[in-house]
Amino acid sequence: MTATRTRYAGPITAAGIHDHSLVGQGFATDDALAAMLDRYPADLFDINLYDYDDAGQVSLRTGSRGRLGGAELLAAIQQGRLWVNLREVESGWPELWAAAMTEFGKVQGACPGLRAVRSSGQLILSSPKARVPYHFDAAGVVLFHLRGRKRVFVYPGDEAHLAETDMEQVVTRQTTEELPYSLAFEADAQVIDLEPGQALTWPLYAPHRVENLDRFCVSLSIEFQTWPSRFRNGALFTNAVLRRAGGRPRFTDQMPTPELAARWAASLALKRAGVMKSRIAGFQRDFEPDAGAADGARALPG
Ligand SMILES: [Fe+2]
Repeated sequence: MTATRTRYAGPITAAGIHDHSLVGQGFATDDALAAMLDRYPADLFDINLYDYDDAGQVSLRTGSRGRLGGAELLAAIQQGRLWVNLREVESGWPELWAAAMTEFGKVQGACPGLRAVRSSGQLILSSPKARVPYHFDAAGVVLFHLRGRKRVFVYPGDEAHLAETDMEQVVTRQTTEELPYSLAFEADAQVIDLEPGQALTWPLYAPHRVENLDRFCVSLSIEFQTWPSRFRNGALFTNAVLRRAGGRPRFTDQMPTPELAARWAASLALKRAGVMKSRIAGFQRDFEPDAGAADGARALPG
């Protein structure tokens, strides 16, 4: 394990908790959530159902929004085994976003050197037994916890836990954000139990997974880019293109900033040219939420 738990220089070197005031402002009550679900744009919903085998390996089913009203959809999540992600909170729930940005500013102020240049919010509603598999985000994250209890496992961002070739696949959208996972990683995890009113940060790119602790959970995840994260994501993209063409680019943690910046600039041109087509754009939906059905999910005809 590396001393700072990440091989990428950044202002956050280990997972840490900050306090926030979003719960007291009433954003996580049943009434507020049901009303929000009623009006939230259907195309901004991701609804997932994860299954795990004894070795901790995950399989994923995806759902569509369906036609349930907000209160019924909320009941299906509270009774089922669903993980519902509402993207683009900045447009979907501007009142929550405005309050969250104030809180985000406080977290940023407490992390010297952290300067977000772009941020976006995802509101996550998840069933009491939901678990999010081992993955990393190609962005910084502040996870504002609003309701229920969840256990977050944060792992070192080194090559053993997070191979750069796997990161390249995620950044170029050749695969979803899940990474190769082994139960042996558990010995290296930093384990944090999150209570409502707490926000969690961790080093940029650090792999993590989440287990709900037997309660319906609500969290707002704010993902942000900094200039260094932009450079690195672009360099990972360019490296992926070079590697696919038979090249053997060196890893980005060995690159000084000018080299990262040059590879980021190259990635913009490569993206414009459309050289890496996403393989996860058009996947099929397997179910719709249903409060009466097992796991809160009713299968859609294949
Ligand atoms: Fe994440």
